[in-house]
Amino acid sequence: MGTFPKALECHWYVVAGGSSVGSGPCRVRLLDADYVLWRGPDGSVVAARDVCPHRQSPLSEGTVEAGYLRCPYHGWTFDEDGQCVEVPSAASGVPVPPRAHLKSLSVLERYGLVWLCPGEPSEPVPAVAVDADPAYSRLNTEMQTWAASTSRMIDNFLDISHFPFTHIGTFGRQQETIVPRIELSQLDETFFGYAYEVVINNVGSTKVMSGGGDDIVTLAMSTGFALPFTVRSTMHYENGIHQVLLLTASPIDQEHSNFAFVIWRNDDVSLTGEEIVAFELEVAAEDRATLERLTGELPLWPGGTVDVQADKPSVEWRRRYRLLVEE
Ligand code: FES
Ligand code: FE
Repeated sequence: MGTFPKALECHWYVVAGGSSVGSGPCRVRLLDADYVLWRGPDGSVVAARDVCPHRQSPLSEGTVEAGYLRCPYHGWTFDEDGQCVEVPSAASGVPVPPRAHLKSLSVLERYGLVWLCPGEPSEPVPAVAVDADPAYSRLNTEMQTWAASTSRMIDNFLDISHFPFTHIGTFGRQQETIVPRIELSQLDETFFGYAYEVVINNVGSTKVMSGGGDDIVTLAMSTGFALPFTVRSTMHYENGIHQVLLLTASPIDQEHSNFAFVIWRNDDVSLTGEEIVAFELEVAAEDRATLERLTGELPLWPGGTVDVQADKPSVEWRRRYRLLVEE
């Protein structure tokens, strides 16, 4: 098993859906390490390595009482700052050894997702501007674990030339295969990528996404990345519907990643929200099936893959990713 570059530890990763961190502790795995998440006394999420400083028991097997995490082995108890506040075997007044404390890690909830940074964060969580716009509603869904390397997922999320083939069961039109010349630019302060138009099949459940219309529609889209592993796609339909799709991938190990997506839309989703999420899950399942047939990481070095014009966004993402991890 390979190891991940140390530089990745200074970035934010989605490790859970906010609603999945409930009253007990939960274990998440990121970059080949286990972490415990729990909710502190004020309800905010706390994160630490999933190892008790005493005898290395997994703390995620313990319990949470009033926001304090108790180890299942000898009952040492930790507060929301990771401080060990109780060693049950010690008489009262006996000081807690300094090394008994946990290092509490940078963790926060945003867009209905729990983001964890195992080291010192070098930049904020990727900003999605529409999240603050009251004209938009947000749709969340369960996180998934894919048997795919994170690099292959980002390569896929940035790629549109697979639409006519991989997504033939949803929106892909096999006769629309040519990818026009791609110009990359800074899309906003956070995302770097490209704008383009795609002609898609608008039949069946795709009509819920588009709000109706003809059976074939042209979509104005943009797709961009924020290093290391976040991608944002925007879709403008001719009828004024605007959808923003945030795709996140977080490395568990070299061959497994957590996948989460969030949708924002400017139409009324009170009746259609579930169907829209179901449609995007279907699209994601098509990508997942394709990626789970591949093995190992995407070759990241220059010339490691055969690339054509349509692969320009992925080539640029890899170039910047290499700079990031070599820093
Ligand atoms: Fe956690 Fe002993 S191993 S209290
Ligand atoms: Fe896809």
